[in-house]
Amino acid sequence: MINIKKQGACQNVRIRAKERKMKEADMIQKCEARIRERTAFEPEIGLILGSGLGDYADRIEDKICIPYSDLPDFPISTVEGHSGQFVMGEICGKKVVAMQGRVHYYEGYSQRMITLPVRLMKKLGVRKMVITNAAGGVNKAFEPGTLMLLSDHINYSGSNPLLGENMEEFGPRFPDMSDTYSGKYREQLKRLAAEQGVALEEGVYMMFSGPCYETPAEVRMARVMGADAVGMSTVPEAIVCAHMGVPVLGISCITNYAAGILDQPLNHAEVVETAARVKETFVKVLDLALTKVL
Ligand code: HPA
Repeated sequence: MINIKKQGACQNVRIRAKERKMKEADMIQKCEARIRERTAFEPEIGLILGSGLGDYADRIEDKICIPYSDLPDFPISTVEGHSGQFVMGEICGKKVVAMQGRVHYYEGYSQRMITLPVRLMKKLGVRKMVITNAAGGVNKAFEPGTLMLLSDHINYSGSNPLLGENMEEFGPRFPDMSDTYSGKYREQLKRLAAEQGVALEEGVYMMFSGPCYETPAEVRMARVMGADAVGMSTVPEAIVCAHMGVPVLGISCITNYAAGILDQPLNHAEVVETAARVKETFVKVLDLALTKVL
């Protein structure tokens, strides 16, 4: 009796996993089909633009804009300042698709769900990914306004976008993460930026789930663990890129000192303000990356 019940339960779990997988594959397929009704454009580079940095997509030429709300079952952001659309077109002679706005894990979606747009971009043709974010500086040498190339990450979010049945069509069950943030891209971009007199730091990004900022004790822990910056995004997307064999160029804009480093509270306005202040340098770095590195 018990065995039969157990067997039934296992079967249910398998059926649910299968349904979920179909739903995800289905969602990607439907979104791809909807986009293909609009355009045959094949982007080669994906841009995921973080808080306060989304304006870069306005520089894209011959824009094709596809609001996320036009795409079936697409995860939509609820956070102010994150307009949601794909912007396709050319910039610096490269064919790109930018995500202007994105959903975050702290909005309550699973990491598997928030990274489906990254898989969709791969389906559209993307072979290289740029991911930008706003982050809190844990390394005291990185004052607000610093641009930091991600050399690696620590996934402290408590989840992983690859949990559940492996999406075999995209990559292996146990993907390697040794060079997620391409060392080649970093070396080239650092050299080019230095030639132009643009300061670029490099460091480890540690993801917390948010949405509250970290406590001072958590920030001290992050430092001991080897983090240079903390934030609430990027890691799930980068993991999915590693899964799909897509190299990532990751750039953090350090918008504030992380909690407890200064004797003052944190606020979102400061994050937006600093991101706006470094916009020009940020554009220069992204232009350089697109023109000469990617
Ligand atoms: N912590 C987490 N995320 C952030 C921060 C921070 O201090 N600043 C900008 N995004």
